[in-house]
Amino acid sequence: MKNLITLANICKKYDTCDNHFFALNDICVTVAQGEMVAISGNSGSGKSTLMNIIGCLDIPSSGKYVLNGENVSKLRDNRLSEIRNRTIGFIFQSFNLVSGFTALENVELPLVYRGIAKKQRKKLALEALEKVGLSDRITHHPNQLSGGQQQRVAIARAIAASPPLILADEPTGNLDRASSEQVMETLNELNKEGHTIILITHDEKLASRMPRLITISDGMIV
Ligand SMILES: Nc1ncnc2c1ncn2[C@@H]1O[C@H](COP(=O)(O)OP(=O)(O)O)[C@@H](O)[C@H]1O
Ligand SMILES: [Mg+2]
Repeated sequence: MKNLITLANICKKYDTCDNHFFALNDICVTVAQGEMVAISGNSGSGKSTLMNIIGCLDIPSSGKYVLNGENVSKLRDNRLSEIRNRTIGFIFQSFNLVSGFTALENVELPLVYRGIAKKQRKKLALEALEKVGLSDRITHHPNQLSGGQQQRVAIARAIAASPPLILADEPTGNLDRASSEQVMETLNELNKEGHTIILITHDEKLASRMPRLITISDGMIV
């Protein structure tokens, strides 16, 4: 399979008032299309810093990042956000749904940003909600849904436009065990359908169940 992600010698340096600090140090990773990978590590190990780079929310201080065939290591903010919208579906720990919107409207929102016409938008959003098993909840608002259901709406939102990469940051961090299992099952199913999924977690147990595990410690891969 083709490489979706190639990180070569990635460093991220944070400047503090009198010093600097390498949050990432010479990271080299490739992820092929269709893989499901966990990135795991203790608090402060550099997971969020790495996720921000993989997710095109930040750029490395040095090194090369090729995403879906495009060198994104040195792009400016507006180009980076363009690529982000087109290439990545995000799932966050805190769901990040719009409270005034229904489940359907939440899932449609990124499709609006992509300029997809109304009719097609609704079709794609309904399909995505069906995939996560929420066809009977499309007119519910987030406060009328359980945490697990809210996260599945967020997953539907992430997959609606079929982006090449799904990036999930502690997606089960705010969920009870049963809901966590459901969310993990949904992610597994999506991977079986061909979606590339990167899951960031400090939960070693969860990470160890993934087909591939990358562990980071002090900004380095171990
Ligand atoms: N903006 C920043 N400025 C300075 N240091 C930072 C900044 N962001 C993160 N760090 C430091 O980089 C290291 C890695 O942080 P982070 O990527 O958030 O780790 P994790 O997500 O694994 O907990 C930590 O030591 C943190 O204090
Ligand atoms: Mg973090």
